[in-house]
Amino acid sequence: MGIVSLAGVSKRFTIRVAGVPQTVHALQDLSFDVADGEMVALIGPSGCGKTTALRIVMGLERASAGRILVDGEVVNGCGHNRGIVFQHAELLPWLTAYENVAFGLEQKGVRGGELRDTAMRYLELVGLAESASRRPYQLSGGMQQRVGIARALAIDPSVLLMDEPFGALDAQTRETMQAELIEIQARTRKTVLFVTHDLDEAVLLADRVVIMQKGRISQIMSTHLPRPRLDMEAMRSLPQFAESRHRLWQALHSRAAVAA
Ligand SMILES: Nc1ncnc2c1ncn2[C@@H]1O[C@H](COP(=O)(O)OP(=O)(O)OP(=O)(O)O)[C@@H](O)[C@H]1O
Ligand SMILES: [Mg+2]
Repeated sequence: MGIVSLAGVSKRFTIRVAGVPQTVHALQDLSFDVADGEMVALIGPSGCGKTTALRIVMGLERASAGRILVDGEVVNGCGHNRGIVFQHAELLPWLTAYENVAFGLEQKGVRGGELRDTAMRYLELVGLAESASRRPYQLSGGMQQRVGIARALAIDPSVLLMDEPFGALDAQTRETMQAELIEIQARTRKTVLFVTHDLDEAVLLADRVVIMQKGRISQIMSTHLPRPRLDMEAMRSLPQFAESRHRLWQALHSRAAVAA
């Protein structure tokens, strides 16, 4: 069993349309595991349930059916064994970069010198030690996102959950951040479950890609790039990159998948 394990997970939302209750089947019978140290990407069209799946693993949302385990324990609300990075960093605007990272550690009960050292170590890991005393509005989008990553990693979670973490960034910053995440993962061997719309990102970062369509898994595919993947340009020129990207494109555009 993996660090993260979903078995038969479904999620229904009830919404009112013109006063009439309607059921939205956001997830239907989702089952997959994420192994220790593995990076898994969730990919699929808008509205197929990627964010809902991530929020359920985080404990921000409760499943309507099925079982979610993290570290072998049933997920029941948020916990310190999971860290999440949102599409927009969602930092606390009145706190500095350092204080944003320290906040999660304080919640975990870390105090004093250990708190200071840990918060600074993770700011250094994402290359922001010099910006520790800046507030979010004084940081670029990419820098804010890095603080978000430092904040999620600092509590040393068993799994890092990321919802389109680089989706709001310009192409160049996104590439830099992807390279940084690859480096951080190579160093920390963190288990990562991330959502993306970007085929290249899924192939470059993930060991396996979970392809979703309308709340269901349509396919789980392995990418075959070697690790470590520190040189992303070299990775892109490998035949395995082109082959994996093509298979992923086909899976996303296959007639069966589109009709599903
Ligand atoms: N709180 C909610 N109440 C009602 N319906 C919801 C709620 N949250 C999500 N949904 C519905 O569940 C489905 C899945 O939404 P979700 O946000 O998980 O999609 P997504 O794959 O992350 O899409 P995107 O790529 O656009 O971010 C959609 O039909 C959405 O409208
Ligand atoms: Mg989403």
